[in-house]
Amino acid sequence: MKKLSWIAENIPASPIRELVPFAEAAKKRGVKIYHLNIGDPDIESPSVMIEALKTWPHQLIPYANSQGESHLINSLLGYYGKLGFGKLASADLQITLGGSEGLLWTISSICEPGDEILTFEPFYTNYMSFALRAGAKLVPIETTIETGFHSPKASVIEKKITERTKAILVCNPSNPTGAVYPKVEMDMLLGIAKKHGLYIIADEVYREFAYDGHQPYSVLNYLTDYPEGIILVDSLSKRYSLCGARLGVIVSLNKKLMQAFLRYGQARLSAGSLDQYVAGQLDKVSDAYFQKLIKEYDRRRQVLVKGLRKIPGVVCSEPEGAFYIMAKLPVKDSKKFAQWLLTDFSDDNETVMVAPAAGFYATKGLGVDEVRIAYVLNIKALERAVVILARALEIYPKN
Ligand SMILES: Cc1ncc(COP(=O)(O)O)c(C=O)c1O
Repeated sequence: MKKLSWIAENIPASPIRELVPFAEAAKKRGVKIYHLNIGDPDIESPSVMIEALKTWPHQLIPYANSQGESHLINSLLGYYGKLGFGKLASADLQITLGGSEGLLWTISSICEPGDEILTFEPFYTNYMSFALRAGAKLVPIETTIETGFHSPKASVIEKKITERTKAILVCNPSNPTGAVYPKVEMDMLLGIAKKHGLYIIADEVYREFAYDGHQPYSVLNYLTDYPEGIILVDSLSKRYSLCGARLGVIVSLNKKLMQAFLRYGQARLSAGSLDQYVAGQLDKVSDAYFQKLIKEYDRRRQVLVKGLRKIPGVVCSEPEGAFYIMAKLPVKDSKKFAQWLLTDFSDDNETVMVAPAAGFYATKGLGVDEVRIAYVLNIKALERAVVILARALEIYPKN
């Protein structure tokens, strides 16, 4: 048999999902698992969306429009209008299969094999896979727990720019670090991008998830200033608990790029028509829904930070946004520890599943003693999960 492609051989497993077989085996043994490994929200979707499932007007589920259904696009224009970006037109939006497809298309559209994309490290692990699929290289800009994972100075970033650099990819608020980049930091990135003719790809799928008065500064603010260079990748997954609907949207004023996206869209025919019908109700979602949502995540964040900081040897920064925490654990290899939690440990027949953090770094050796914890469980479950983690660390063999 002929060999598989280089990409097939090298695409990395997701550290968020690669321990799933061990989790399945633990469940078969009757062990209850608290999932801290994945950002799949447990909060109910807005009721107007669930109700819409009952009013689907067709007797079949047909293909949808390749750009996206006009009802959903109009609802999204209303959503961005409410945020203060009312000048967008429907041609500036392309519906995608989640932010994932948006990122993949964006990187594939701007990179030739060997081109480079700068991004803050640690980063959302699948960026690596998306870049690899396009033959592009992700170039990490190191950030640290000590500075709350905020951006280093412009000169540090500029040192990483080569002839092959095409874009700066920024996740705001950040998964996995919880950093929220305000106007000053985004202005700095814009300055660098303009000076070197780079695109800014902004992944703003966690836009609403910001706490303690932190406000992510959207790249949509730069559309007039840098119309060809700004690409927003957005998603409905987190904000409306619609992860399984697989819907996202790319926003850009770069006409050539948007035309390319439409052709990508035509090649994969369409996003789901039923999903878009449901998500199209987003114009009816009240502000109260978001207020309640953010309040709940904020409470969880506080419970988790407080609980983790009480565990001897655990270090974590206080996330400003999204719903993840990067935590340093008193272990040598967090991947082995995460696996051990599923294979060898349980407390009262319960355990926790965490995401080993090395996969969120491109730099070898970084993140090996860290895990990413998602706070998508209710408070009671989170409190119990922290107790389990503490007990596990107490007895985990040190060597
Ligand atoms: C930072 C970030 N970007 C993009 C995505 C992709 O999500 P989706 O494809 O569900 O929109 C995720 C999912 O967890 C994410 O955390």
